[in-house]
Amino acid sequence: MLTSTTPVALLCLFLWGMSLSSVKADGPRPTCFETYKISQGDTCSTIYAWSGITPSQIESLNPDVQCNSLTPGQFVCLGSYTPACTLNVTATETSCVPIATFYNLTTADFYGLNNNVDSACDNLLIGNPYCVSIADCFYGNTNPYCNGD
Ligand SMILES: *[C@@H]1O[C@H](CO)[C@@H](O)[C@H](O)[C@H]1NC(C)=O
Ligand SMILES: *[C@@H]1O[C@H](CO)[C@@H](O)[C@H](O)[C@H]1NC(C)=O
Repeated sequence: MLTSTTPVALLCLFLWGMSLSSVKADGPRPTCFETYKISQGDTCSTIYAWSGITPSQIESLNPDVQCNSLTPGQFVCLGSYTPACTLNVTATETSCVPIATFYNLTTADFYGLNNNVDSACDNLLIGNPYCVSIADCFYGNTNPYCNGD
């Protein structure tokens, strides 16, 4: 049954979808190249003092970390780069298993290659491109796929 609230609900769903896609760009997840183990007494300010990495950079490098709740023993990333995708394929179903199997990837590999995929690897959008191969774009890599990073 259609009610007068249906258009509002659809608009909300549409805006929610837009905000999700604007938060997460498609492509590989960043690779951390420098991790640091939190010691007793560390704060984002003390880390900034020796590393030059600002508190807001620390939080954006570590989406699960809040500067006001650092825990000794916890590892944080202080530097990362994003690999470039060198081969996309189009999803024909919502599970990544068929594509991953074909390209000899585990579902965990596929998750790392695609920042818009959930850890169950079952939320692919049919018809959308997904990455199955990357160039590791560490600083100085001259692979043409890494140019412009
Ligand atoms: C793969 O797809 C992503 C997202 O659409 C795009 O940014 C990237 O350039 C593509 N890479 C290749 C090699 O086609
Ligand atoms: C997957 O691995 C098999 C066995 O090593 C190999 O024959 C096949 O070419 C690989 N597929 C791709 C897409 O790399």
